[in-house]
Amino acid sequence: MPLRLVVLISGTGTLLQALLDAIQAGTLDAAVVAVGADGAAEGLVRAEKLGIDTFVLPLRKGMDRSAWDEELARRVGAYDPDLVISAGFMKIVGPAFLAVFSGRFINTHPALLPSFPGAHGVRDALAAGVKVTGCTVFAVDAGVDTGPIIAQESVAVLPDDDEETLHERIKTVERRLLVEVVRKWRKNG
Ligand code: GRF
Repeated sequence: MPLRLVVLISGTGTLLQALLDAIQAGTLDAAVVAVGADGAAEGLVRAEKLGIDTFVLPLRKGMDRSAWDEELARRVGAYDPDLVISAGFMKIVGPAFLAVFSGRFINTHPALLPSFPGAHGVRDALAAGVKVTGCTVFAVDAGVDTGPIIAQESVAVLPDDDEETLHERIKTVERRLLVEVVRKWRKNG
């Protein structure tokens, strides 16, 4: 049976696309059974084109965070996933979600954790003047980008880099690394 994946996104969904491409190419024995987002996200269109179920669960200012967290756990749980992937999902999940999915919820971050956690990993690495940064796939825990590291790969910072060029080069590596982690999950699972 293919590994059942639920992928959570907020942005363009190119990491999601890398998973879909590998599945389509027959190099990843998995199925994306649903894609969830916290608002309008370009990545939802990629999923919808392929007939994959999608859902949107916005977390608005002033909203009850625990109710959102419980609802997210319920929506994702309805798809009975083997693995939940945060692929550029810019929200921190809470205890209700982790109670159900801890140990099978992974995230990918565009820096070499534990350096430069948080929403601006690429910008912060540039500002610090490091010559090497990279990406990290890790198991999500209750902290911000603090969970056990599963895989990392380094990316050189070039003299002319700005946030956009560096992030794009990191994402090229990040897409491959994420697919590799999911492939190994399959083998070890
Ligand atoms: C990735 O670099 C991810 O680590 C970060 O947002 C980016 C998502 O890119 N949090 P995309 O939306 O999959 O293109």
